[in-house]
Amino acid sequence: MTNFVGIDLGTTFSAAAYIDQTGRPVIIRDEDGNNIIPSCVAIEGGKIDVGEEAKKAWGIDENLAAARFKRVMGEDQKFTIGEHDFSPTDLSAAVLKKIAEYSRNEIGEIHEAVITIPANFSTEAREATMEAAKRAGLTVKYIVNEPTAAALYHAFKQGDDLHGIYAVYDLGGGTFDVSIIKVEGHDVTVMGTAGVSRLGGDDFDKSLYKLIAEKYKSQTGENLSPKDFSLNDAEDKKKSLSKKESVRIGVNREVVEVTRKEFEEGISSLIAQAEMLCEEALEEARIDPSEVKEVLLAGGSTRIPAIQASIKSVFSREPMSTGNVDEVVALGAALYAAYKGDQAVLTEVQKQSVGGIKVSEKTSKYFGTISIGFDEERGQQALTNSIIINKGNTIPCSVTESFYTVYEGQTNVQCKLTESSMPETDPQFVKVIWEGDLKLPPNRPESQEIKITYSYDDNQILHCVYEDVASGQKTNVDISMASKEEETSIDQFMVD
Ligand SMILES: Nc1ncnc2c1ncn2[C@@H]1O[C@H](COP(=O)(O)OP(=O)(O)OP(=O)(O)O)[C@@H](O)[C@H]1O
Ligand SMILES: [Mg+2]
Repeated sequence: MTNFVGIDLGTTFSAAAYIDQTGRPVIIRDEDGNNIIPSCVAIEGGKIDVGEEAKKAWGIDENLAAARFKRVMGEDQKFTIGEHDFSPTDLSAAVLKKIAEYSRNEIGEIHEAVITIPANFSTEAREATMEAAKRAGLTVKYIVNEPTAAALYHAFKQGDDLHGIYAVYDLGGGTFDVSIIKVEGHDVTVMGTAGVSRLGGDDFDKSLYKLIAEKYKSQTGENLSPKDFSLNDAEDKKKSLSKKESVRIGVNREVVEVTRKEFEEGISSLIAQAEMLCEEALEEARIDPSEVKEVLLAGGSTRIPAIQASIKSVFSREPMSTGNVDEVVALGAALYAAYKGDQAVLTEVQKQSVGGIKVSEKTSKYFGTISIGFDEERGQQALTNSIIINKGNTIPCSVTESFYTVYEGQTNVQCKLTESSMPETDPQFVKVIWEGDLKLPPNRPESQEIKITYSYDDNQILHCVYEDVASGQKTNVDISMASKEEETSIDQFMVD
C-alpha cells in the first residue's frame, strides 16, 4: 500500500497521521504509544534526541535543549545546545526525522508527506519548512495551512452533513489562527483568515508561572527556582485548571494555591487579542457572526474554559469538536496528502474516501511591485508600493496592471516583487521577495506601457510576468509559495 502521511509540525507538539487501508485518516503513534511528541531537541550522548526527554531538559534549563523554534522559522536565529549552534530549519528537520522514523516503523515506507503550517506563515517560513522536510529525507510536494487541514478533517468526519459557513478556531502552543470557511460536503473554501504567531499555550504557561512565582515570593520572600518548579510544571498545572477550579502547588514545603479565576484574569489580554482576530477574520470574509453555523476547534489550548467562553461570546454559540483537538490538523493533512497525491497509486477504497474532497484557498498576503508614483503627502514623485494581488483573493487568480516608463530613453525597468500583510504603499514596510531587470529598447519617448501580471495558481506558485508592451520583451519569474517540486526553492527561480 502507498502511504500518504500528514504531519502537524507544531510549536510545542507534533503529530503524524496516514490514510489506512479503509481510506480513513489514522494517527501514527510513536514507539511508546504516544499520539503527539514534544517539538523539543536535545543532545544526548553526542546524538540528537527529540521528544519527551528533551522537553524535560528544556523545562529545567533552556540551554540544555531547544524548543519553540517554529516561532522563528525562516529567520536568521541560532539556538545553542551545549557547544552546537542550530537554525530553526535544522531543529525542525530533527523533529521531522524522528517522526519519519517512528512512522516508518509503524506503517512502512512513506511515499508522500504533507506538512501543515500556520495560515499567516511568511514565504521564508514556508520555504524553511520545505527545506527541513527535505533534510529529514521526506518527499514533500505540498504544505497546507493548519486551519484548512482541520476543516478538511471536520468535513470528512461529518460527510455530507457539513454545509454552510464555519469558523475554525486553532489555538495551539505557539500560534493562533482563525479561519472563516465555506463547506459543501467535502468541498472547503477559505473565505478569511487572521492569526498571530505569538499567541498560545506557551504564553499561558508563562503567565501562570509568573502568578505562582509572585505568590511564592510574597509567602516566603524567596524567588521561585526553575529547579524546584519549572515551566513544564506550570504547563501541567494549567492543564489541571481546565478541569478544576483551583490547584495547589507544593514547593519546598510551602503550598501555593492558584484559582482558575486568577489564571484567567492573567491571560485576559491575550484572550481579548484572540477575540479581535476573530473579528478581523469575519470582516475579511464579510460574514456576520450570526451566519457562522459552527465553530470547529483545533489545538490543545481550546480546552481552556475561558477560551471556550470567549468563543461563545464572539460567535454566540458553543464551539464544537468532532475529534481530539491535538490530532485534527495531522488527520486533515493526511487526507490532503492523499487528495493531492498520485491518484494512480491510491487503493479503490482510499480513492472513494478522498474522491469528493475539494479545497480552495485564499491568498494570505498582499503581493505588489515598487514603482515611481506621485506622493500626495510630499507633493512629489516617490517610490510607491502598488498592490497587484490582494490578500483574500481566491486561488487561483491572475491580475494584470499597467505601469509606464518615467523618462525618455529609459532602457531598464527594475522589477520588484513585494509581499506584505497590510495594503502598504510605503516601500519601507513591505518585503521585497524577488528583484530583477527588464531591458528595454533604446531611444524611445517616456510613458511606454509596462504590463505586470501576477498569477497565483492552485499549487501556490506565483507566476510573475513583467512585459514591455511595444517590444514584447518579458522578464518572468515563478516563485513557489509552497514549493511544489522538491528541488524548487526560493533561491532557484526560473528567470528568462
Ligand atoms: N487540557 C488543557 N488545558 C489547557 N491547555 C492545554 C490542555 N491540553 C493541552 N494544552 C496546551 O495546548 C498546547 C499544545 O497544543 P497543540 O499541540 O495543538 O499546539 P502546537 O501544535 O504545538 O502549536 P501550534 O499549532 O501553535 O504550532 C500546549 O501549550 C498545551 O499546554
Ligand atoms: Mg498546532
